[in-house]
Amino acid sequence: MTFENLLYECHDGIATVTVNRPKALNALNQATLKELLCLFAEIRDDDSVKIVILTGAGEKAFVAGADIAEMQSIDAATGRQFALLGHQLAATIETLPKPVIAAVNGFALGGGCELALCCDIRLASETARFGQPEVNLGVIPGFGGTQRLPRLIGKGRACELLMTGDMIDASEAHRIGLVNKVLPAEDLLAAATKMATKIASKGPVAVSLVKSALHDGLESDLARACAHEADLFGLCFATADQKEGMLAFLEKRPAKFEGK
Ligand code: CAA
Repeated sequence: MTFENLLYECHDGIATVTVNRPKALNALNQATLKELLCLFAEIRDDDSVKIVILTGAGEKAFVAGADIAEMQSIDAATGRQFALLGHQLAATIETLPKPVIAAVNGFALGGGCELALCCDIRLASETARFGQPEVNLGVIPGFGGTQRLPRLIGKGRACELLMTGDMIDASEAHRIGLVNKVLPAEDLLAAATKMATKIASKGPVAVSLVKSALHDGLESDLARACAHEADLFGLCFATADQKEGMLAFLEKRPAKFEGK
């Protein structure tokens, strides 16, 4: 499938999805959200993809938010539908049974910050800028920012960002736990690929179950979440990957995982 607003490539099990509207700083209009939904559905079903890197085209922006030009004249019902589309995309990424690394290469504002928030790991270039500036426009975040931001960085810090609309730089984002690592811009994609390669070399079923246990568990109480972890731990022992991983350890050789 070809996309108007996305670039896609996949090598050695690592897929790279690039939001490609550089003239609008990769802003998310409805068409781009729908393309992302379509592409992530394909990625989910493509056994050759083990892990995804999500980034933005050009040097300036990851994604500078939802498309303000498109939103400017919509009514309340359309606004709600637009938010639901963004939520559908965030949930699709969050429940994708493969890890997603956001390589944040510039502005990650509004819907762009929210897109990074639903990824599993966030790497940022030194030039990245983060913020939820929706209040400057007379709206609130619509793609989950009021929920995922406090869950990641805590309520007080999230309130400050959400209520002031302030932009923060990559080092501040790192300090408050919004990003995992900050890298020189020219090293960002190589670092994301290096991390993706390392994760792709692990037992794919186990990596997928880590994602599921973590995300589902954080939305549940501790006892229920630990019970779910025990179920998934048990499930691992029905996989070929567990047999191979443990046998390889005992035979002092690298494991050859099949993802089964
Ligand atoms: N939507 C549509 N177009 C956008 C955009 C957006 N979110 N962000 C930037 N652009 C466009 C600009 O209109 C401009 O287009 P033209 O060249 O045709 O005029 C082009 O991208 C370049 O932008 P600037 O000239 O503004 O570049 P700059 O370097 O001066 O500023 C910026 C960069 C600080 C990121 C600034 O563009 C900006 O503030 N953008 C808006 C950020 C924002 O408010 N995002 C939140 C949107 S609301 C939202 O996301 C709701 C939600 O949660 C779902």
